[in-house]
Amino acid sequence: MSRPHLSFIDETPRSCEFDDDYYSPDDGLTESTYVFIEGGDVINRMQALQAGETLIIGELGLGTALNLALILQAWSEHGPAGARCHVITIEKHPLSISQLRAASARWTSLSREFETIHQRWPSPIPGCHRRPDLIDGLTVDFWWEDVSDALGDLESYGSRWIDVWFLDGFTPSRNEAMWKAEVLRDVANLSRDSANVATFTASGEVRRSLERIGFRVSKRSGFGRKRECLHGIFELSRASNDEHTAPARPTAWDQPSYIQEPKSCLVLGAGLAGSHLARRLAERNCQVTVLERGTIGSGGSTQPQGVIYTRPSHKHGKLADFSLTAYEFSVDHHQRKFREGSLKKGIDGELTGYLQLASDDVLERLATAFNDEDSPLKVVTREAASSIAGIELTQGAQHYPDSGWLHPRAICTELLDHPNIAVIEGLGDTTLRQGDGDQWLAIASTGDGIATGDTAVVTTAWEAVEDARLEWLPLQPIRGQTTLLPSQGALKDLKCTVCHAGYTPPAKGNVHCIGATYGLNETSTEERAADHAINIQQLRSQVPSLDSAVSSESHTGQAAVRCATADYLPIAGPVPNKAEFMTTYEGLRHDRKRLINKKQPNMKGLYVLTGLGSRGLTSAPLLSEILISQMTDSPPPVTRYLSQAVSPARFLKRRLVKGEA
Ligand SMILES: Cc1cc2nc3c(=O)[nH]c(=O)nc-3n(C[C@H](O)[C@H](O)[C@H](O)COP(=O)(O)OP(=O)(O)OC[C@H]3O[C@@H](n4cnc5c(N)ncnc54)[C@H](O)[C@@H]3O)c2cc1C
Ligand SMILES: C[S@@+](CC[C@H](N)C(=O)[O-])C[C@H]1O[C@@H](n2cnc3c(N)ncnc32)[C@H](O)[C@@H]1O
Repeated sequence: MSRPHLSFIDETPRSCEFDDDYYSPDDGLTESTYVFIEGGDVINRMQALQAGETLIIGELGLGTALNLALILQAWSEHGPAGARCHVITIEKHPLSISQLRAASARWTSLSREFETIHQRWPSPIPGCHRRPDLIDGLTVDFWWEDVSDALGDLESYGSRWIDVWFLDGFTPSRNEAMWKAEVLRDVANLSRDSANVATFTASGEVRRSLERIGFRVSKRSGFGRKRECLHGIFELSRASNDEHTAPARPTAWDQPSYIQEPKSCLVLGAGLAGSHLARRLAERNCQVTVLERGTIGSGGSTQPQGVIYTRPSHKHGKLADFSLTAYEFSVDHHQRKFREGSLKKGIDGELTGYLQLASDDVLERLATAFNDEDSPLKVVTREAASSIAGIELTQGAQHYPDSGWLHPRAICTELLDHPNIAVIEGLGDTTLRQGDGDQWLAIASTGDGIATGDTAVVTTAWEAVEDARLEWLPLQPIRGQTTLLPSQGALKDLKCTVCHAGYTPPAKGNVHCIGATYGLNETSTEERAADHAINIQQLRSQVPSLDSAVSSESHTGQAAVRCATADYLPIAGPVPNKAEFMTTYEGLRHDRKRLINKKQPNMKGLYVLTGLGSRGLTSAPLLSEILISQMTDSPPPVTRYLSQAVSPARFLKRRLVKGEA
């Protein structure tokens, strides 16, 4: 994304592109408090929240995050216990961290809030970057997009989410794009009844546009040199139903027609997918029962060490975009867990970075695409990579300084340790049956009914297809074996994980878990000497400086089964009713772009989260977040394009489009 060009006049940042100030040169902090926090009635709305309720604030133009810092401050002082605040803020030209630091340095009364914002400021990758619990109970979605694209994306769900709007996009005469009729129409379509709107401008045109779409707008005295500004209330009964201005929404084949916020949920499988999902549900006060055949983290999530890794590309594409978005979300999540002390460094993992060795031409392409100072990856020379790793390397690399290795089972255990979660282990193959009154029933291998829930989620990796309602998912098991190496010789010097075709992390205790082999369509988990030989040979050839550190004695390790999909993207979403889906969207066979005004016919209360492939540590946190937003009809953490890319229904839609049965 392009960075803005800023000039500072008496400490007030000014945009060179728009030739306008980010806020009043007289006193930006007092202006923002007056125009937005007071004009949007934010404190009263926060104080009126009951436990379990969420206040959602939408901001057009995040800029220097001064308004955001004021929201954080207000929430710390006035947010009631048990309630939540969610800020959705849109910005087309995000500041770099150094620009942000420069712009915010003068606001010493907000230094704590800005420190928190700086720490979790997203990299300049387009799309939505969610930051849960930026402060206790307050989540922020940073949408790095043009306002029309971001609002259009959010509006496409047809849900009214927003309680308060801050319209802060430079003076209308200098930035028409921010005040276009379509933008304001989307603002109205996303507003709950009685939503507040606040803006610094008093433009007659803006006032009339807001009135036309359903806001009752009043003028207030302006701040400083501005004579007046506007605020208002959205009245749903007055909202314009003008067909000519209504947006054409895409066919909602990915959106469930039946949704009911889960109060009790059955989660089948206690791997990374099930554990992340269970925790997020529990945090929303849902009573969760996790049903596990063996023990926690005993399936694919069984290795002592795995790496949070990603797969960037110099070009946009579903796989690369999802992989990078999920990577950043996972790194942010795990960094927070280590900071809070719920994960222990060196035992549960360590985020000392990773290097991905790569050829010069790959590195050259990535260096051009990821040349921003805040990019999640830096391209480094062989010499620099060797110095970062602490061992001699033979190639340049992509360096991901914020990532590292984790112990998957420890991650699952930490996630499942919550008062709203009950874990039942050792059940053998458990199945789900739809009981009376929309309840789901879990049946153990003994035939006994064990637990019920109004909702159920299948997170049983490649075995998800054992459930007849999911037999059509194109899942592939892939066996993988790791090898344990004692930390000796040059291995002892290793300071960060080195990835090649496989991976070698710094030691956990005195042992490195290196891996891993690929056995497509193999499901056996017996340990094989031949697989250890493959891992060792791979390490020796890719990182010759470790050759003498690898003993030639017999090795031990573990084999487990991954689960991949036909398109290598994971799966998270409602389970469609296959027969009804194929009938409802039959028209797509003839015209793939046809608009069919019907949401997905789905199995009531049934969801699936699987297909995490070789990247469960990377994708499970974000996939859980996507799924929860669908289960609860709350704002999505990613663009619609990415949530469709992981929807289970994509495989059925593809069949229709390709003319298959
Ligand atoms: C050798 C190897 C190395 C890996 N390295 C990495 C890495 O470095 N980085 C990374 O991000 N990922 C890595 N992965 C992949 C990662 O481990 C997976 O993506 C992740 O474990 C998938 O989690 P899951 O919860 O979907 O599946 P699983 O962990 O397999 O969990 C599914 C659970 O469901 C249970 N279950 C199945 N059927 C039933 C049933 N009928 N009733 C009850 N319970 C049932 C299973 O017992 C299991 O516990 C690696 C995988 C392997 C095998
Ligand atoms: C007045 S500033 C916002 C000030 C900000 N709220 C603060 O607290 O500092 C306006 C912001 O809108 C952004 N902007 C302008 N046009 C935009 C567009 N079309 N889409 C998204 N953001 C835009 C600008 O980059 C700028 O950061």
